[in-house]
Amino acid sequence: MKHTTAWLAAALLALSANAAFADGKELAQKNGCMSCHQEGRKVVGPSYKDVAKKYKGDAKAEDHLVESVKKGSKGVWGNVPMPPHPNLSEADAKTIIKWILSL
Ligand code: HEC
Repeated sequence: MKHTTAWLAAALLALSANAAFADGKELAQKNGCMSCHQEGRKVVGPSYKDVAKKYKGDAKAEDHLVESVKKGSKGVWGNVPMPPHPNLSEADAKTIIKWILSL
């Protein structure tokens, strides 16, 4: 009985985590992020895996990156700037950033 409960809890946790990641990816696709970024390869902007690597262990990374995406960014990765995304909601930006940082 105890085992079943623990297993169920673990399965549910895994499921909800996967759902959040899928949402982040979907939102990135919907908001046009993927035209300049890919998960594993630099295109116009850095690959999301490189972003995750750069900010690994940085407790402020999530807030910083939400700001970067909403207000635009330049000079962090090279000479090409990222345009601002003022219409992206705070919640959607967070979901996308959480997904990026999980890669
Ligand atoms: C027109 C191309 C373009 C689009 C569209 C774009 N980006 Fe970027 N992105 C870039 C470039 C170029 C950089 C590097 C900017 C720099 O060096 O500061 C970047 C940087 C980033 C970074 C790292 C910022 C930092 O401070 O290190 C994140 C995270 C990111 N983009 C996420 C997104 C998300 C999420 C979206 C969609 C809402 C998006 N980008 C849409 C081109 C783009």
